[in-house]
Amino acid sequence: MTLNITDDHGRLVDYLRVSITDRCNLKCEYCRPPSGGQPSTPCQMLKLKDLLRLVRVFTGLGVKKFRVTGGEPLVRKGALSFIRQVRQTPGVEQVALTTNGVLLAGMAAPLRQAGVGVINISLDSLSPEKYAAITGGDLFHEARAGIDAAMEAGFDAVKINMVVMRGINDDEVEDFARLTMDNKLQVRFIEYMPATPSGWKREKFMTMDQVMERVRTLGVMAPVNKTRWGGPAKIYKLEGAMGEVGFISPVTSHFCASCNRLRLTAGGSLLTCLFSTDRLELEPMLANGASDVQLAQAIAGYAKIKPAVRDMDAYSRDMEKSMIRVGG
Ligand code: 5AD
Repeated sequence: MTLNITDDHGRLVDYLRVSITDRCNLKCEYCRPPSGGQPSTPCQMLKLKDLLRLVRVFTGLGVKKFRVTGGEPLVRKGALSFIRQVRQTPGVEQVALTTNGVLLAGMAAPLRQAGVGVINISLDSLSPEKYAAITGGDLFHEARAGIDAAMEAGFDAVKINMVVMRGINDDEVEDFARLTMDNKLQVRFIEYMPATPSGWKREKFMTMDQVMERVRTLGVMAPVNKTRWGGPAKIYKLEGAMGEVGFISPVTSHFCASCNRLRLTAGGSLLTCLFSTDRLELEPMLANGASDVQLAQAIAGYAKIKPAVRDMDAYSRDMEKSMIRVGG
């Protein structure tokens, strides 16, 4: 029998984001930990077969959508086969992937064959120099080739994530929006979140209202209805465009009331919110031979106490946290 997780605030939780590694081949300034490159203490990663087992347990609790993320998920050996097996797990309706695209050119078609429906690719600049400055990697052309390969591979949707930072890449907002005129892409602008406590600079922050004003100068924007698994983005189509633009405002507004997500780190920590400072450690349970039923009970009990509203301040005070570990 499949149970459902309905939390203490009446929200149905049916979406899990699974980070399969906290390693990354880029060092984006908005994501990396205060120390610079990789997390200071390498996370003891669960074996992919244990992560798969957890995915099965989550499906038994009614979780139907999975997003594979990182770090950069494609740097983990076995990522493709993991994704295929997640897609083949009974009860799974949708598998999405978040990637920086650097390794995607050779993997887009196999990922599509493995059953990835939607792919989100991070791209914060269309200038190779600026891309290198933001990401710490001279890999713009690789990422662009990855996006091209994704567009050819026939995914249900290819989405580009751009974190907008004033004075860094905000002059490119219109150019990114223009990409949707002739490409079947969804370009999503995201507010720069204080996800790296020591690195976040208020003066670089721009609200989505400000970003939207810029995009509006390009033409009339018609709102687009959300699909079944549509997330928190507000989606529009510029008049005459093939693609869509999306606006995500985790800082100036929040979508907690409709949040249906949990997050699992590569080390086996379960978070009920991106900004949680508390987590349920599943690795010790696996190590102690917990049964699927015991795991399911622990997960369901923990998910029920998902906070009503995110606590970004508590998160910002916690220096150990960074997106690279929790998964973007
Ligand atoms: N602010 C906004 N978005 C972020 N991401 C990572 N860190 C941040 C941040 N500080 C998101 C980006 C990226 C994905 C992996 O995670 O959208 O594309």
